[in-house]
Amino acid sequence: MNKLLIAILASVSIISVAHAAGDAAAGQGKTAICGACHGADGNSAVGNFPKLAGQNESYLLKQLQDIKAGNRTVVEMTGLLTNLNDQDLADIAAYFSSKTVQIGAAKADLVAAGEKIYRAGVASKGVAACTACHGAQGKGIETAGYPALSGQHSQYVETQLKNFRSGARANDPQAMMSTVAAKLSDQEIQAVASYIQGLN
Ligand code: HEC
Ligand code: HEC
Repeated sequence: MNKLLIAILASVSIISVAHAAGDAAAGQGKTAICGACHGADGNSAVGNFPKLAGQNESYLLKQLQDIKAGNRTVVEMTGLLTNLNDQDLADIAAYFSSKTVQIGAAKADLVAAGEKIYRAGVASKGVAACTACHGAQGKGIETAGYPALSGQHSQYVETQLKNFRSGARANDPQAMMSTVAAKLSDQEIQAVASYIQGLN
C-alpha cells in the first residue's frame, strides 16, 4: 500500500514538473530584450507595440508559441524566440501577466459609437458583442484563452482587427475573430479600438 502510494506520488510530481506553471520571477530575467519594444513592465510607449502588462497568462503563452512556430507573423520578433524553450515562454508569460496595465484614453467623439459596438455588437450585420468573449471590463477569460483588451493601444487593436479581417492574422481558434472582423468597416474598427484604449 505504501509502495503504491509512493509510486503514485512520484508519478504525480513528474507530471507536475512536465507541466510546470510559469514562474514570474524567473521570467523577468528573460525579458531584457523584450522591454525595448514592449516596455520593461509590459506597458509599451509606442502604439504599434502591444501592451503585455496584465494580459492573461494563457493567452500570452499561446501567442509566444504561435509566433515562435510561425503561426503568427511578427517580423519585428524574428529570431527572438528561437532559443527560448517552453519553460522560458511560460515564465515570460507569467511575468508580463503579473504586471498592471496602464489604461489609456478613448477619443471623446468616438466613445458612444465604440461603446455600442463593444457592448452590443452590430446587430444588422450579425456581429457579436465583444463583451461575450472579452468581458464587460475587457479582462478576457483566462481559462478560455480569450485575451484582455482593457487599455490596449488603439493603433495596435486596429491593426489586429484589420489583420483578422484580411486573413493576415489567422491564429484564432475556430476563426472566432476573423468571423467578427470580417463584417466590421474601417470606421467601426476605429471607433471600437478607440473605446478599448480607455476601457477598464
Ligand atoms: C523590435 C520590437 C519587438 C521586440 C524586441 C519584441 N517584440 Fe513582441 N511584438 C512586437 C510587435 C510589433 C508585435 C505585434 C505585431 C502585430 O501587429 O501583430 C509584438 C507582439 C507580441 C506579442 C503578442 C501580443 C498580443 O497581445 O497578442 C507577445 C506576447 C510578444 N510580442 C512578446 C514578446 C517577447 C516575450 C519579447 C522578448 C523575447 C518580444 N515580444 C520582443 C515587437 C517586438
Ligand atoms: C466568440 C468569441 C469572441 C468575440 C465575440 C470577440 N472576440 Fe476578439 N478574440 C477572441 C479570441 C479567442 C481571441 C484570441 C485569438 C488567438 O488566440 O490568437 C481574440 C482576439 C482579439 C484581439 C487581439 C488581441 C491581441 O492582444 O492581439 C482583438 C483586438 C479583439 N479580439 C477584439 C475584439 C472586438 C473588438 C470584438 C467585438 C467587435 C471581439 N474581439 C469579439 C474571441 C472573441
